[in-house]
Amino acid sequence: MPNINYDYIENYLRKLKDIKDEKLRDMNDYAEKNHVPIIERESEEFINFLISMQKPKKILELGTAIGYSSISFAKRNKSIEKIDSVELKKEMAEIARKNISDIGLEKIIEVHESDAYDFLVDLDEKYDLIFIDAAKGQYEKYFDSALKNLKEEGIIICDNVLFKGMVAEDSLVKRRKITIVKRLRKFLKDISEDDRFISSVVPIGDGILLVRRKDEED
Ligand SMILES: C[S@@+](CC[C@H](N)C(=O)[O-])C[C@H]1O[C@@H](n2cnc3c(N)ncnc32)[C@H](O)[C@@H]1O
Repeated sequence: MPNINYDYIENYLRKLKDIKDEKLRDMNDYAEKNHVPIIERESEEFINFLISMQKPKKILELGTAIGYSSISFAKRNKSIEKIDSVELKKEMAEIARKNISDIGLEKIIEVHESDAYDFLVDLDEKYDLIFIDAAKGQYEKYFDSALKNLKEEGIIICDNVLFKGMVAEDSLVKRRKITIVKRLRKFLKDISEDDRFISSVVPIGDGILLVRRKDEED
């Protein structure tokens, strides 16, 4: 459990919304057995809710792992026409591609094997939603670069921004994670103080940051 909420709350929320899809349930079990970090159940539900409201057509995901989150988003939201998902590790990208084709979503989800930042540098597509879930120490770099790829009304969602509570509380910080924690703290402070954006940190799962550009009405 990631130290953000009480265990009994998380357990309750997870039981309340069991994974209905058999393939996603198998993938979730695989991730648990093989220590692959995938999105927390309550974060998955929350983001799927946001997607059902925003109805994005095009999504960019940084950090595919075994394809769990992109499959969950695409299966549950018919608005989605395309997800470009970027994964650094070859073996992960291969497992994700197999999971995606097993479920018949290969026309919608494309896995790009690349470092996320390198991928962004050359990218000139525009997206309705950008989901940042790759190297936590690089979020500010990803965010700054990904802004050019965000449609005017688009949303950026970053997962794991509270990083097992360490970002909020010094006594939880493990020494070998200190650089990541410092970078995440700086990132959250910078975004929160930036007048160009409306943002919110939601303390569910491992902490989710939501950001969108301000418009004339804000
Ligand atoms: C938290 S997991 C992604 C989980 C996935 N979004 C899900 O919820 O099903 C993070 C993934 O980012 C990948 N990753 C780490 N550093 C990366 C980088 N520099 N560029 C692209 N992917 C990276 C890791 O290999 C890992 O598979």
